[in-house]
Amino acid sequence: MALFIVLDGGDGAGTTTHSHLLKGFLENEGYKVHLTCEPSQSKIGLLLREFLKNKEIPATTDALLFAADRDLHYQNEILNKLKEDYIVISDRYLESSIVYQSVQSDKISVDWIKEINKFVGLPDITIILDVDPKIALARKDDKALEKFEDNQFLDKVRNLYLTRAQTENYYVISSDDIIEFVQEKIQKIIIDRLKNMS
Ligand code: TMP
Repeated sequence: MALFIVLDGGDGAGTTTHSHLLKGFLENEGYKVHLTCEPSQSKIGLLLREFLKNKEIPATTDALLFAADRDLHYQNEILNKLKEDYIVISDRYLESSIVYQSVQSDKISVDWIKEINKFVGLPDITIILDVDPKIALARKDDKALEKFEDNQFLDKVRNLYLTRAQTENYYVISSDDIIEFVQEKIQKIIIDRLKNMS
């Protein structure tokens, strides 16, 4: 049964942990699941991972590269898996660009991000994991921080995710709770949707 799910949210919100747990849960339930992430594993994705450590890269360059990475990711991977009736879970997707790149620079509007990403398909379900950046950053090693892992920046990111979630009707789950509790809430949303589809 094809379904495109995205888990998104600020740094340290646990999108990676919860994407993996959700995959295991759905496979146990008998579904075919494809787990993927952004930045993707493509050459553009690898370049983006490098640029996450480099503050000299213009925000516009980041935005364009994330859009190119997503285009390739969607056309060559996600779409194929959906056609093969997989449930696709993406750890981050378009919403990350809308939020991070527009917070990164005043020159960048949400509309422009949407424009440069207009050839990719949109998810069926977006779940935003919400976490207080102070708590999220306290879990990280200071020396290994990437360029967006800064308290003030992540406060703005958090606010924009919450505003966007309201206007776009995304699910929002607090990620401050224990992992099992957060995961149960995610699973319930997905199971309810799958029941409605069958
Ligand atoms: P992560 O793999 O730990 O989630 O890190 C990915 C980082 O890249 C995170 O700080 C968010 C950022 N990002 C963007 O700024 N724009 C995007 O479109 C995506 C997919 C990620």
